[in-house]
Amino acid sequence: MTTSILEKKTMQLSQTALNISPSGIRKFFDIIAQMPDCISLGVGEPDFVTPKKIIDAGIQALQNGKTQYTSNFGMLELRQAISAYLEKRFSVTFHPENEIIITFGVSEALDLALRAIINPGDEIIVPEPSYVSYHPNIQLLYGVPVPVITTMENEFQLKASDVERVITQKTKAILLNSPNNPTGAVIPWEELEKIAKLAKQHGFFVITDEIYSELIYDQAPRSIASITDIQDQIIFLNGFSKSYAMTGWRIGYVCANKEAIEIMMKIHQYTALCAPILGQIAAIEALKNAEEDKKRMVDEYLRRRNLITRRFNEIGLQCHAPGGAFYVFPNISSTGLSPEVFAERLLFEKKVAVVPGNVFGITNYQNVRAAYATNYDKIKIAMDLIEQFVGDLR
Ligand SMILES: Cc1ncc(COP(=O)(O)O)c(C=O)c1O
Repeated sequence: MTTSILEKKTMQLSQTALNISPSGIRKFFDIIAQMPDCISLGVGEPDFVTPKKIIDAGIQALQNGKTQYTSNFGMLELRQAISAYLEKRFSVTFHPENEIIITFGVSEALDLALRAIINPGDEIIVPEPSYVSYHPNIQLLYGVPVPVITTMENEFQLKASDVERVITQKTKAILLNSPNNPTGAVIPWEELEKIAKLAKQHGFFVITDEIYSELIYDQAPRSIASITDIQDQIIFLNGFSKSYAMTGWRIGYVCANKEAIEIMMKIHQYTALCAPILGQIAAIEALKNAEEDKKRMVDEYLRRRNLITRRFNEIGLQCHAPGGAFYVFPNISSTGLSPEVFAERLLFEKKVAVVPGNVFGITNYQNVRAAYATNYDKIKIAMDLIEQFVGDLR
């Protein structure tokens, strides 16, 4: 009998990596990929193609021979454009020379932020439900995610008083995401101010993942990073994937004080070297010339949000109208099904994909996430199918 090479002690895989649960979303994506006629409200990716002028800038760059590495920090022109954008949109100041690194999407920006601050055993407060990567990223660094639950009754808005309750001597940071994936909730400004006070008082970092900050409805965008009192404690993450439909170009950025950026740069230069030049050139074009394209997409998301929220409530699945992103998080407990069974049966019986809400952290939410990054007419059909599905259960 032959023994597997992996059974040898010297060949055993990392226990830390083995302990990480695989993404609950991935399982659904694999099934959806085998079902070409399925309507997917599952994937958190814009259905739009990157605006043409951004694509053209990328093609032009290639034709001009732009195929090299850039500075480890990323192109200065892009950092300058980002700095100007942040100042204009949020009244937030980060210096292009030494307070911004261009990364492989917000994914790498998040990883750099966490690596730069976590020592084993440090606690990171994570409001729930949360983006699927937050818990595993913290755990891979031997940090401890500390959940703070947000509720449907409060439209999933984070309350500073709930944050205060979980602060300990080991609290290293809070990881905010507003607008939120998967609920679309926007943290009210008064709560951000209170959270900033807590951060000041207890001395912890505020990592703010603002990847959905361009997709905001019914209110003016504001960032906790504009609170100058905690400027040195802020690590600001943003990117181009969602706002400009540029997921495949892999461009994000992290901004922080120059000491924190220096530490992140040490990690970034050894692990990634620099973000792809093509994406960086496209991102410059996006910031400089694609305002109207962005607005067109945001207006369309808003139209879809109004449709999908109305339809879920009509069907009897309680759903709040979120202030941002492109997700709704309806409660499905009235169906008597668990979120996994609901999502699985909906997929196999009606060919509509949603994601069970309990994959977004450790709280057992009786909700599903539906992304409206799918065209309006398909959403209409999907909602009719969900209505039939729920009707059949009753
Ligand atoms: C909250 C949040 N942060 C970060 C990311 C990663 O985005 P990127 O494509 O920039 O790596 C996502 C992607 O879905 C997200 O939802």
